[in-house]
This record gives sequence, C-alpha cells and structure tokens, in this order.
Amino acid sequence: LSDPSTSRPWYARAFGARYRDVYAHRDDASARAEARFAFDALGGGADAAWLDVGCGAGRHAIALKERGARVVGLDYSPELLAAARARGLDRLLRADMRSLPFADAAFDAISFFFTSFGYFDDEENRAVLREARRASRPSGKLLLDLPDVFNLRATLKPFDVVESDAGTTTNRRALVGRRVEKQVLFSPKDGSPPLAYVESVRLYEPDELDALLAGVGFKTTRRFGSFDGREPGRGDRHIVVAEAKR
Ligand SMILES: C[S@@+](CC[C@H](N)C(=O)[O-])C[C@H]1O[C@@H](n2cnc3c(N)ncnc32)[C@H](O)[C@@H]1O
Repeated sequence: LSDPSTSRPWYARAFGARYRDVYAHRDDASARAEARFAFDALGGGADAAWLDVGCGAGRHAIALKERGARVVGLDYSPELLAAARARGLDRLLRADMRSLPFADAAFDAISFFFTSFGYFDDEENRAVLREARRASRPSGKLLLDLPDVFNLRATLKPFDVVESDAGTTTNRRALVGRRVEKQVLFSPKDGSPPLAYVESVRLYEPDELDALLAGVGFKTTRRFGSFDGREPGRGDRHIVVAEAKR
C-alpha cells in the first residue's frame, strides 16, 4: 500500500506512541481474559516457553507471565516496546516477524493476538508462519487471533468517528481485493498535531488459512468465533489454534 506521506511501510508507521490512544478500547482487562483463554486453549502450563509476536505494549504478555509462562515479547515498534518495558516486562525483543531471531524449536507456544498477522504480501505472510513453525518445538502450539472475514465483509463500516479521552479518531475503511484497508486520522485533545496513517491487512478465509498453515507444518486443531469460546462464524473473530507437526 502506498502511503504518500512517507516511504516507510505502513506497519512501521501505524504502531507508534499514539497507537494505544487510537485503540483505547483494547485494554488490559480484555487482554487478561484473552490471555487466559489462550493459555487454556494452548495448554500452556506453568513454565511454558511462550513467544508473543506483535506484543505491542505487552498487554497479553503481562497476563501470560502472571499465569506462569516464560514469555518473550517480540515487536517492531520501538515506542510500544518501550511502553512494555515501562510496565515491567523484561524479555522483549525488537525484530521483524518475517525473520525470528530464535533457535529452532525454542517455544512451546506462539501467539499473534489482535490481528498481528496478514500485514505483508502472500509470500511474506507465509514466511511469517514458516518462521513460527521453525521456532516451535514439535507439537508446539500456535494461536492466531484474526478478524472473521465473513463478519467483517458483512459489517464493514466505511466511515466512523470514535471519541476517546485522548482524542478523536476518524476511520475510513474499504475492502481492496483480499485486504481490508483503513485510513486513520487521529486528532489529539492535547493540541499536538493530528496523525494520519493507513493499515492494510490480508484477510484469510478459514480454508485458505488452514492450507497455508498445513503448507508450513502446522495442523489446525480448533477454531473459535470469539474469546468467549463460541463457535466459529458466530462472532467477529477467527481464532485459530494449530499444532506443529513433527
Ligand atoms: C494490531 S497490533 C497488536 C498489538 C498487541 N498484540 C495488542 O493486542 O495490544 C500489531 C502489532 O504488531 C507489530 N508489528 C507490526 N509489524 C511488525 C513486524 N514486521 N514484525 C513484528 N511486529 C510487527 C506492531 O508494532 C503492533 O504492536
């Protein structure tokens, strides 16, 4: 996606210091419930070596750590990693998910919470999963928390305005080929300049995602429509649990 204001790719711009203001509704309370669900679904167990890819400010990593997992948070955004560090997380790493700086078979569980997958073209998205498989021990577990494509297509709001304590966010959304693209304009209340950026995420239908996972050595074992455990297709999320094949 071309972003006229910069040559940096969209994912290097969208997740800056203001990200948490724009997504203020995605808070620690929701993350704690999601992490608990993931911990049970992945059979984490105390001491599990757990990698949270796209950990952001560490919402889920903190909750997983509280449950006894040995969590490493990986992210590309220096600002969000600094926020995670300020919140007491110490096992944090800045890296690109397409090339994970870990030994083979290092992790029992790998999570991608809140749409942290689908940012690149198809080949690079595949590379992300290939890397996750390489870093997974045999029988290791993977969790992808993605939007439900069918729900998203049916309910997409082309335009909305969201007020939060920190400012006003104007969102414009469109389905473009197999991606959902969003133009965001955030106007802070503190008088600092407005911020404009784009997000662009490849949408995968369940069958296509299963095939993609199978191609890199993961087998889908369960899926849910929400973190409350409801059936797939009955919620706005597509939560996939997969297992690394030997
Ligand atoms: C939608 S946010 C979700 C953050 C976090 N999981 C949460 O729920 O609060 C996606 C995260 O992926 C990170 N990210 C974007 N591109 C990345 C890349 N190439 N490699 C690693 N992380 C990346 C962003 O910085 C951001 O923190």
